Amino acid sequence: MALLELEGVTRRFGALVALDQVAMAVEEGEVRAVIGPNGAGKTTLFNVITGTVKPSAGTIRFAGESIGGQPSHHVCRLGLSRTFQITALFPEMSARENARLAAQARHARRWQPFGGAGVFRQAAALADAALEQLGLTSIGDTPAGLLSHGDQRLLEVAMAMAQQPRVLLLDEPTQGLSVEETAQAVDTLARFLQASRMTVLLVEHDMEVVFRLAHRITVLHRGAVIADSTPDAVKADPAVQDAYLGGFA
Ligand SMILES: Nc1ncnc2c1ncn2[C@@H]1O[C@H](COP(=O)(O)OP(=O)(O)OP(=O)(O)O)[C@@H](O)[C@H]1O
Ligand SMILES: [Mg+2]
Repeated sequence: MALLELEGVTRRFGALVALDQVAMAVEEGEVRAVIGPNGAGKTTLFNVITGTVKPSAGTIRFAGESIGGQPSHHVCRLGLSRTFQITALFPEMSARENARLAAQARHARRWQPFGGAGVFRQAAALADAALEQLGLTSIGDTPAGLLSHGDQRLLEVAMAMAQQPRVLLLDEPTQGLSVEETAQAVDTLARFLQASRMTVLLVEHDMEVVFRLAHRITVLHRGAVIADSTPDAVKADPAVQDAYLGGFA
């Protein structure tokens, strides 16, 4: 059984069909890229999976449990954590404090019985482990707002990892980065993915990054899946070339 399974997932905004009968199955340990033109529905797909937006129809199963339409804090507690397309961190707090707060957000209820100090210690340990996974240990005390853009994007990944997810959803982790910053961040991400064997859903416009990191690629076009295959097969698919890649291969 796939860890994450979608069937017939549809989301309408008025007359607009942002997601159109999306089916997809993500296996444990897989890095799945989701690509497609602007407005194809990629972020909406993340929103319906993580409970930020309710699907209009269809089913979403995570580890066998139906999560479609469940609130996002519940979905997060079950083990799906995400980053956002737009940077979302507290700029005046240190990198470590940002990661600690993220850890606490997932585990708040479970840890309440241990009281304040216990919660803090547990969350701090998870934050340190996550910073280490993303190569950020040395900047742990730096205010997030003073980090380079590349480190800010990696910190967001660390914040998601501090929640100990079973599935990590990354929405354009290299958005807004320069060519050099992208290369560095992707090296770090590649090492992290290799070492952690995380199950990942990755939205990314940079095709070099996609073809380097992804095991499998889902292509969305006007809300519908037009291809779902290995990177090589997707690259060679004429429908994908037409809709999106425009001769990338
Ligand atoms: N809350 C909303 N209300 C109305 N329309 C929305 C809403 N969210 C998304 N849409 C529309 O749904 C479509 C899909 O948007 P979405 O943000 O999922 O695309 P995307 O593939 O992530 O695009 P990009 O590559 O630009 O990030 C777009 O036409 C968008 O305008
Ligand atoms: Mg988007």
